Amino acid sequence: MTTMLASDLPLPRIGRGKVRDIYAVGDDRVLLLTTDRISAFDVVMAETIPMKGAVLTQVSAWWFRQLEGVVPHHMISADADEIIKEVPALQGHRASLAGRAMLCRRTTVFPIECVIRGYLSGSAWKEYAAQGTLAGETLAPGLTESAKLEPAIFSPATKAETGHDENITIGRMRETLGDEVTYSLESMSRAVYTRGETISRGQGIIIADTKFEFGRDDDGRILLIDEVMTPDSSRFWAADVYAPGRPQPSFDKQPLRDYLDIERRAGRWNGDAPPPALPGNVVDATSKRYLEAYRLITGADLEIGR
Ligand SMILES: Nc1ncnc2c1ncn2[C@@H]1O[C@H](COP(=O)(O)OP(=O)(O)OP(=O)(O)O)[C@@H](O)[C@H]1O
Ligand SMILES: [Mg+2]
Repeated sequence: MTTMLASDLPLPRIGRGKVRDIYAVGDDRVLLLTTDRISAFDVVMAETIPMKGAVLTQVSAWWFRQLEGVVPHHMISADADEIIKEVPALQGHRASLAGRAMLCRRTTVFPIECVIRGYLSGSAWKEYAAQGTLAGETLAPGLTESAKLEPAIFSPATKAETGHDENITIGRMRETLGDEVTYSLESMSRAVYTRGETISRGQGIIIADTKFEFGRDDDGRILLIDEVMTPDSSRFWAADVYAPGRPQPSFDKQPLRDYLDIERRAGRWNGDAPPPALPGNVVDATSKRYLEAYRLITGADLEIGR
């Protein structure tokens, strides 16, 4: 399978995120094309990570299938042949679509990232350790790093156009989206996380936290959109080595972050674009991590039909 930094499909391109290229398909659908771009510390690397786009798309597709009946979602198809049947303009572009493309219902995206935290980690642990709060709300005292949060905590963040997303209180979210939408997004996030946690636990994985996006379609329905419970949107831990009181080994971009940390500490990178060039072994290790994540989450190896 060919690796891809940027796509060029014969459809109107309506967006380019850090990782995805977004195309309009008529008025009511979008094609999300997940490239092999990778970002770390909010900087997009110059290299591609082979198979990463396919892993992210197919992990999301697998979850959308598990979520039938739990929440309405945007996926129409993540199969290249089905997509070409639906969108004949894409004939001749099968190689660019294979594994990485998802045809979706188009929505107006709510400008809030819906984060669910089942465990106290990352920025949430930092805030709690410093002031006993999470997104400004007081938590029980005496929690340790990586402690299980019961019930899981809904901690929304603004979708920043550039730079870091900012955690906000549910009160702020209500001011932005109204009571009713806020309630719906929180309940839907909890329902998806609960299903995800239950399924993952059976595979020996803990979903420590994860981020969802939602949008509203033309019929006024709220849909789960974007990517779902992927290594880019979630923190996954191996259940068999989980022990609270310390950070957990996670199977995500750690080899890449470790390399960038070394470069930064050595004074060879200032943390802004352009990032340092990635050595082949870091690219390979990262690609392997993504493929392994696919296998652990879905229980099967990733096979992309040519
Ligand atoms: N069904 C949908 N309808 C409309 N937009 C969607 C849909 N699903 C996903 N999107 C949007 O497509 C974009 C995906 O791009 P990508 O994930 O690369 O962006 P990003 O760099 O993570 O930045 P951000 O997600 O904060 O915009 C997101 O902006 C997301 O909100
Ligand atoms: Mg995104």
